[in-house]
Amino acid sequence: MSKGRFITLEGGEGGGKSTQTFRLVERLRRIGLKAEATREPGGAEGAEMIRKLLVEGEPGRWDPQTELLLHFAARRDHLRRTVWPTLERGCWVICDRFADSTMAYQGYGHGLGREAVEALYRLTVGDFKPDLTLILDLPVEEGLKRAALRGGENRYERMGSDFHQRLRDGYLEIARREPGRCVLIDAGGTADQVADAIAATVRDRLKVAI
Ligand code: TMP
Repeated sequence: MSKGRFITLEGGEGGGKSTQTFRLVERLRRIGLKAEATREPGGAEGAEMIRKLLVEGEPGRWDPQTELLLHFAARRDHLRRTVWPTLERGCWVICDRFADSTMAYQGYGHGLGREAVEALYRLTVGDFKPDLTLILDLPVEEGLKRAALRGGENRYERMGSDFHQRLRDGYLEIARREPGRCVLIDAGGTADQVADAIAATVRDRLKVAI
């Protein structure tokens, strides 16, 4: 049995990643593939507990380094308990955020830099990486407006627009550095348009007839 593929959806706030994660799972299942949705931080029992620590409370609750370590602790638990076993049984895993979020939010947004994030990646994730990463891109103000309409504001949405601009620029830089893995998707359209753009990219990059 061949292994499943690992696809991650990335981007700033309000870009519709969660909706698109589920829509992509549906499309893959429609052609008979096994596919599961998951998310970070979270996606396993322990990782969901760490998620609560990260998304609740005041913006200054953690210093950037502590936050970085918590994200990687949650990620390691999620990989061991959920992602790796699921891929091993031939199921595709579609993940709402992964390590590019850490690079964008902690590396670029909080200014910890690429090296710190890459070092922890090597330690906790190793050689494993997504087969494809879809970066849903949207102007910062538009994304924050959409996120506010959705409600249930998290700690990160209150970090100010300079922070959000740095992380958007970070994502654009990530896409430039790794064009083989990352594809930028314009998240400004309707949910149907974005879902179609994602499906076309998956079809083209991973050679499946969705
Ligand atoms: P979300 O699931 O609503 O996107 O919330 C998770 C928040 O956590 C989001 O604001 C981005 C942030 N985050 C990081 O700062 N670093 C990370 O590595 C991950 C996975 C998420």
